[in-house]
Amino acid sequence: MSFQREIVKWYTINKRELPWRDTTDAYVIWLSEIILQQTRVEQGLPYFQRFLQNYPTVNDFANATEAQVLKLWQGLGYYSRGRNMLFTARLIQENYAGVFPTKYEELILLKGVGEYTAAAISSFSANESRAVLDGNVFRVLSRYFGIETAINSTDGKKEFTALANALIIDQNPAIYNQAIMEFGALQCKPKSPDCLNCPVQSGCYARANARVNVLPLKLKT
Ligand code: ADE
Repeated sequence: MSFQREIVKWYTINKRELPWRDTTDAYVIWLSEIILQQTRVEQGLPYFQRFLQNYPTVNDFANATEAQVLKLWQGLGYYSRGRNMLFTARLIQENYAGVFPTKYEELILLKGVGEYTAAAISSFSANESRAVLDGNVFRVLSRYFGIETAINSTDGKKEFTALANALIIDQNPAIYNQAIMEFGALQCKPKSPDCLNCPVQSGCYARANARVNVLPLKLKT
């Protein structure tokens, strides 16, 4: 079985039930992804639920005041995220008639939305074939495929992006992206990954070459 199919199979058995995975509403996915940008899932979850309760649609969000948004944001840190969200919600109300975009090329133009977030929203909401690259994905790919290029170098970014985009072809992009991120978060963890119970251990470069605790490589900045 291919690496990708093994990862998706693992995911269907081991995934956490997380509320933003049950929707294709781009607004709801955007909400979750911005909250999770610098925040762990357990910490972000109650914030996600409070925001969604207060602002069920992007128009509800757009009609909020900055003080209201920042109050709900309290405790999450990086308050520019909250401010950018309000700016973006108002822009979508004005320029997109309140319909949250789902295309990567439109999403990448939004304040606070970078390559990762645009790929996540476009794949999860519209099954656009865009590979997500977050810390989890870098780690899984570098270990399994033996990529010894630093993840924060120009060459590394190119190499990982090319590999990630090649792997997503012929997959269901939404499920595959969720699966490889979850696999990195729960199985191929930064410290003490569970290699003995790993479904792709037999093909893993890092395991065969004693590189599990070294990869991924990162340049000191
Ligand atoms: N962290 C960022 N995005 C996530 C997602 N969609 N599922 C789980 N953790 C995440």
